[in-house]
Amino acid sequence: LGGAGDDYDYLFKVVMIGDSGVGKSNLIHRFTKNEFRVETQTTMGVEFAKKSIKIDDKIVKAQIWDTAGQERFRAITSAYYRGALGALLVYDISKQSTYDSLTRWLAEIRDYGERGIVVILIGNKCDLLHLRAISTEDGQILADTHGLKFLETSALDATNVEDAFNELLKEIY
Ligand code: GTP
Ligand code: MG
Repeated sequence: LGGAGDDYDYLFKVVMIGDSGVGKSNLIHRFTKNEFRVETQTTMGVEFAKKSIKIDDKIVKAQIWDTAGQERFRAITSAYYRGALGALLVYDISKQSTYDSLTRWLAEIRDYGERGIVVILIGNKCDLLHLRAISTEDGQILADTHGLKFLETSALDATNVEDAFNELLKEIY
């Protein structure tokens, strides 16, 4: 265990997955710093964030890996997935193409993810009520088909962001 303030009982690597612009980096900012950025650059290579939460009386430290949705800016896929115990698979409820990509992302998780990796499906930007393109039901149907938990979130207004990460960490634990 590290120095003061860095003690933990479990260290869980989790990865963010989904198309460019769905809000992966902002979900992390909201969870770890309670911040939101209106203007964000696409993630280059891989970025890391961490946050500890308490489950039962244990301290679980999440090491969250983030890369770009776009192929050309992505980290090396096999290294990205190596050792990951959980994944947040994110789409944007206001953009059909990000939902259509989910089967491709699920195939990647199947090909590169560790056996038993816990995946939670996230429909982000649920604050964009007037721009909704994917119904909650369609999100739930896809999640049920693949046996995933499902939540709609907003990194902007913080809806369900804590819950999404906490659910993932609890399910790994
Ligand atoms: P890549 O790094 O390119 O893969 O994108 P990303 O998935 O990390 O998306 P990012 O977090 O950079 O967000 C993309 C854009 O969507 C930014 O302009 C954000 O401000 C916006 N955004 C992210 N989350 C939300 C949300 O919950 N609601 C709204 N309204 N906008 C959001
Ligand atoms: Mg990003």
